[in-house]
Amino acid sequence: MSAALDLQDKDLLRTEAFIGGAWVAADKGKSFAVLSPANGSELVGVADCGVAETRRAIEAADGAGPAWAALTGKERGQVLRRWFDLITQHQEDLARIMTAEQGKPLAEARGEIAYGAGFVEWAAEEAKRVYGDVVPPFRKGARTLVLKQPLGVVAAITPWNFPSAMITRKCAPALATGCTLVIKPAEQTPLSALALAVLAERAGLPPGALNIVTAHDPAPVGAELTGNPRVRKVSFTGSTEVGKLLMRQAADGVKKMSLELGGNAPFIVFDDADLPRAVEGVLASKFRNAGQTCVCANRIYVQAGIYDAFAAALGKAMQALKTGPGDVPDVHIGPLIDDAAIRKVETLVEDAKKQGGKVTAGGARHALGGLFYEPTLIEGAHGAMRLAHEEIFGPVAALFRFGDEAEVIALANDTEYGLAAYFYTRDLGRAFRVAEALEAGIVAVNEGVFSTETAPFGGVKQSGFGREGSHYGTDEFVNVKYVLMGGIDGEPA
Ligand code: SIN
Repeated sequence: MSAALDLQDKDLLRTEAFIGGAWVAADKGKSFAVLSPANGSELVGVADCGVAETRRAIEAADGAGPAWAALTGKERGQVLRRWFDLITQHQEDLARIMTAEQGKPLAEARGEIAYGAGFVEWAAEEAKRVYGDVVPPFRKGARTLVLKQPLGVVAAITPWNFPSAMITRKCAPALATGCTLVIKPAEQTPLSALALAVLAERAGLPPGALNIVTAHDPAPVGAELTGNPRVRKVSFTGSTEVGKLLMRQAADGVKKMSLELGGNAPFIVFDDADLPRAVEGVLASKFRNAGQTCVCANRIYVQAGIYDAFAAALGKAMQALKTGPGDVPDVHIGPLIDDAAIRKVETLVEDAKKQGGKVTAGGARHALGGLFYEPTLIEGAHGAMRLAHEEIFGPVAALFRFGDEAEVIALANDTEYGLAAYFYTRDLGRAFRVAEALEAGIVAVNEGVFSTETAPFGGVKQSGFGREGSHYGTDEFVNVKYVLMGGIDGEPA
């Protein structure tokens, strides 16, 4: 086992799947390797489950559902509160596990654990506030009630870029409303998911309420999760391509879905922007997780009057970015997740160069080798480049020059995606006009970071639908039932 996984609480490192409250090997005894993106070494082997194990996990979740749903919201909230406390107490170990399997700098991993724990804390507080409605009667002798009831079994399919927070963001509100879950974590990063399950078990979550099926090949597990009639909702974070496939698979069972898919975020800097703040915002948005988030600035539009000054300031600020393994102190940019990821970044940068883009920083694999890519700045980007239409998912900032507000709104919206958008301006009228005109589920004005458990996260267009975080996120896990209560005799005519 790798030294990177030398933990204070060694019990957090699990390699078996978690089904019906038991830690189990795969039926055929197979396992798959979890690799360190920092050096390619094998960290551990993890149970390689398939359809049979997935089906048993669904049955376990279904079996645990009625008793869990029958608890009061307050009782469910107390379990969630203990889970939150345990996650917080074990923040350092959880962050180390994440850095080892995902590669992100330790400081970012600690931040993700705190961010993810926030969803559990929120759900613990909200479990007793999943209110329905009493609607004024529309008829004498009757009353109109609206109940919110748990959906039942939820399947959560989660990505490698946020191995912990994308799990708690789905599980915590689902558990708060009385749902139970089967989670399929990304094959690159199952260890963070399993560690969360250890803590959920310690917090007193009943057996079967939360199940984790680890698998190297996501396809058969995904097909079972979307096809099994006992699953009532599928919540997925990942690529638009896979989201569409899951949607097709879930269609026959008419399952509820939440899809948080790809993005192509515009980041607009108007002439009147506060330049140092805008540079700080780009750094935060673009280089978080080495550029591997769905909400990373993908197209940076800079107005002609401020373009040169902005490009110079950003280039200078980027010189301070240190690349290296995530467990080395002061590193800002870790490795990319795998070979496919670094090859894609290379291809996009090569295409941009061929099409006249000027690389003023980076532009190649890092001297460290492996999966490290240099923080890169490309000036003179334009709409014919592939990176204008495809998610870069790497540490590459591409600057596009624009003339006026109407032009940049049209450019920003000229994409099939609509997850996040950012812009910087000091003009209040423009702030409202542009925020309302941008086709995105999230718009950040004069801010480069917006993620929080207290606000709804999600997209429009091919970035998906459904919201995570806040009470909107809780609503994704309930059925709304209208009860007409008649026969109330003796009312005045
Ligand atoms: C994502 O990239 O999918 C999530 C990013 C976030 O929660 O901030």
